Amino acid sequence: MTMTTNQFLSSFQFNNGLTLKNRVVMSPMTTMTSFYNGMVTSDELNYYAARAAGPGMVITAVANVADSGKGFEGELSVASDDMIPGLTKLARTLHQNGTKAIMQIFHAGRKSNHHILRGDQPVSASAVAAVYPPDSETPRALTEDEIQQLIVDFGEATRRAIAAGFDGVELHGANTYLLQQFFSPNSNQRTDNWGGSREKRMNFALAVIDAAKSAIKKYADRPFLLGYRISPEEIENPGIRLKIPCISSIRSRTRSITCTFQWGTISGRR
Ligand SMILES: Cc1cc2nc3c(=O)[nH]c(=O)nc-3n(C[C@H](O)[C@H](O)[C@H](O)COP(=O)(O)O)c2cc1C
Repeated sequence: MTMTTNQFLSSFQFNNGLTLKNRVVMSPMTTMTSFYNGMVTSDELNYYAARAAGPGMVITAVANVADSGKGFEGELSVASDDMIPGLTKLARTLHQNGTKAIMQIFHAGRKSNHHILRGDQPVSASAVAAVYPPDSETPRALTEDEIQQLIVDFGEATRRAIAAGFDGVELHGANTYLLQQFFSPNSNQRTDNWGGSREKRMNFALAVIDAAKSAIKKYADRPFLLGYRISPEEIENPGIRLKIPCISSIRSRTRSITCTFQWGTISGRR
């Protein structure tokens, strides 16, 4: 009789020491069930209670790091300390039977509109509307001070995830949201330190990564993971393509920080 070994059921240890009981990961899936201001609802707790316990790790629906980064109604928020009590309940719910809890964090950038932002114009790297959907609003280009504040906001969101008891954060650099908008040669038409060459278009993501790393170093008293999600392609032309050197550029530029990342995930062309 032959024995079958299911490796995905065996434990996995990240290089920071955090161990998953198995290799099943639930990917981030937005449920649009948070309160109007992004606070956790009992519907969300029930949803995650029904799914935790089995997987080694669950990545939450995406949470915005700033009010200007809200991309849709019912979205989770990690933009203020008021959110920590609800997020603490969420982390506890996910921790059933040893499942690890990861919070995905982002800023939607131009993938929002003035209805969702209660009258405010969406912001992005540059004042360029998304190609899809066709009625996308033209955003306002972020100022230098606003960019610096958003970098701080990503660090603060990481601090709140630590305080709430999560085991890590995933930076949502995919699906055409703000981190991708800075990297894309389409949505980023800036001529300052944040745009132009591939290297400069990566500066925002690298600064956000540094802010998250600093928060982890300062506040985490336990192994705390940092992940990054990318989309290797986008529909805009010119835009990010798997075959052009953008992706290898990310690889070479991030080589020095790869030890930072315990994982990276890829989300399809958007
Ligand atoms: C309803 C729904 C909500 C999603 N929300 C998110 C999200 O908040 N963050 C994210 O990175 N991906 C999100 N995704 C994408 C999923 O994480 C995943 O990449 C996608 O469903 C493809 O999965 P597959 O490759 O296993 O088919 C969502 C997908 C669905 C269907």
